[in-house]
Amino acid sequence: MIDQSIIEDILKHADIVDVISSYINVIKKGRNYVAVCPFHDDKNPSMMISKEKQIFKCFVCGTGGNAITFIQKYENISFENAVKKLAELIGYKDARLNIKSTASKQEEANAPLYVTCEELTKFYMMTLLAKEGEEGKKYLTERFIDDEVIKQFRIGFCPNNPLISIKYLQAKNCTLKDIETIGVAGHSNGQYVDKNAGRVVFPLTDINGKVVGYSARKINNSDEAKYVNSPETPLFQKGNIIYNYANAKKTARLDGYCYLLEGFMDVIALYRAGVKSAVALMGTALTMQQVNLLKRLNVEIRLCLDSDNPGQMATLKAIELFDKSNVKYRIVRRSNGPKDADEILDKYGKENLIKWLNILIDKVQFAMNYFSRTNPLNTIDERKRFILDFLPFLKNVNSELELEEYIVNIAKITNFDRKVITNALEKYKKNNTHEENANITLDIHPERKALKRLQLTERMFVYQMLYSKKALEFYKDKDVPLSNEIFSKIASYIMEYYRNHENMTINDLINSVAQSGDKEKDVIVSSITELSFENRYPECSNDLLNELYSIIQKERAKEYDNFIFEESTKGKSDVEQLRILRERNIKKNAQLNKK
Ligand code: UTP
Ligand code: MN
Repeated sequence: MIDQSIIEDILKHADIVDVISSYINVIKKGRNYVAVCPFHDDKNPSMMISKEKQIFKCFVCGTGGNAITFIQKYENISFENAVKKLAELIGYKDARLNIKSTASKQEEANAPLYVTCEELTKFYMMTLLAKEGEEGKKYLTERFIDDEVIKQFRIGFCPNNPLISIKYLQAKNCTLKDIETIGVAGHSNGQYVDKNAGRVVFPLTDINGKVVGYSARKINNSDEAKYVNSPETPLFQKGNIIYNYANAKKTARLDGYCYLLEGFMDVIALYRAGVKSAVALMGTALTMQQVNLLKRLNVEIRLCLDSDNPGQMATLKAIELFDKSNVKYRIVRRSNGPKDADEILDKYGKENLIKWLNILIDKVQFAMNYFSRTNPLNTIDERKRFILDFLPFLKNVNSELELEEYIVNIAKITNFDRKVITNALEKYKKNNTHEENANITLDIHPERKALKRLQLTERMFVYQMLYSKKALEFYKDKDVPLSNEIFSKIASYIMEYYRNHENMTINDLINSVAQSGDKEKDVIVSSITELSFENRYPECSNDLLNELYSIIQKERAKEYDNFIFEESTKGKSDVEQLRILRERNIKKNAQLNKK
């Protein structure tokens, strides 16, 4: 357990706006900051960040918390590890942080899988350099991959006999179940066999550099698949893996850029040419998780996907996602020449590869090249299509000179008058403003609208407890009943906290809930942050507390009454229901008259 005073101290030194900014794009909006929420598929910035309160809250999906729980959620790690990450991020040093932290349940379950992957990687590497790996070594040499590169990327070879690696792992005390779970073992004739047998193996690592899967290349001309990849496993999810990310992270900030390529052979080619800040997608479609990872590098991403049609289509898609997430990027200009970086290096040499990597264009220039290459411009329809395809790219060009130049070029290519293009653009802009200019409307909160009077009152009461000890005393004194389970839990956590402390901040409370074993702790933390963003409630006073208490009592009595009524009429005929209702009204009136 990390000492609570350190946690408090770290939070004091951290600024939530900076912390969240290091993960995602944050925009200043009035007194607060907003961001596109990374915890749901957000289009507009729905996440509010309060510098003053040092908390965040998404008003669409409800996720909320402080700097620590943000990191915890974003990186999917335990609370303690999130505290350490935060300390690292702000350069906070304290020897007491070095204690081995308690891993989360998930981390604990995955630990033997990481060990199994690591052992297997070592085995493949050993094999490549041994007699059994000769063919593999020969293949790599033919592709100019030398020992230094082999070591850097931990390349290996899986023996032709598919039983050996499995036996080796078992001898290293890895269980068959774990070997199966990491995805390399298949069942054949009642035996476990390695699916990578006879292939050169490239380990795939997670963002921390730990091996989580493999891609194995065939080394002959058979008609088997070129690469065999690990299936999805608890460690390996294609959508959030980027080849060489952990290494590139170390150099990208110094370089100020990171190349994004299609295959890992291209990353290796760049490395051979001396460019270390390079990562690959491994042929998969770019996912939002990958976009967020790239964004976190906080450098210019240089898009360099293959020059074939799928590669260029993927570039268009990447442009769209990067724009949406505010990633800085440029595109390496492509022609109809060689398909990928690896090919350029082999055919034209290192200098030419470097030269070529440095011809960088922006998205409008890219679109210009791409559309004029792919669109035949023979008929009037095709020429129109070209302009229409182009409008989204022109929409956000800010510089008038630049825009003018593009329009002149498009006019030249399409043989349309410049005016036609300008008019089309104006029209397009008019029809497409609603989406991006839509303001965040934080007051539209679907749940809150539906809340009944009792809920609203309980909500205001718990809010008072967050900010005033007086409200807590009142709560204990009167034993105020709270029917909402989450509010009631928040109240208990507040009570518990004050049992050991003199004062409490929102962040203290969030930390204590986040560290509890409560199954609903996420919901509770979200609810606390939501409450603390409230700014229309009156300040705490005895009168206010008494009034809230009396409303709570009255509303509860009413609810109880309704409940009894509903119970007593369940399954009864209409006539009978009417009779009970009448009786009930008579009683009510009598009560009112008494008062
Ligand atoms: P490429 O076919 O462009 O691979 O696929 P490459 O990098 O040029 O490979 P070499 O040079 O022929 O060895 C790009 C990426 O798509 C994935 C791999 O991750 C590869 O890096 N891929 C390709 C597969 O997963 N399976 C395949 O059969 C082919
Ligand atoms: Mn290639």
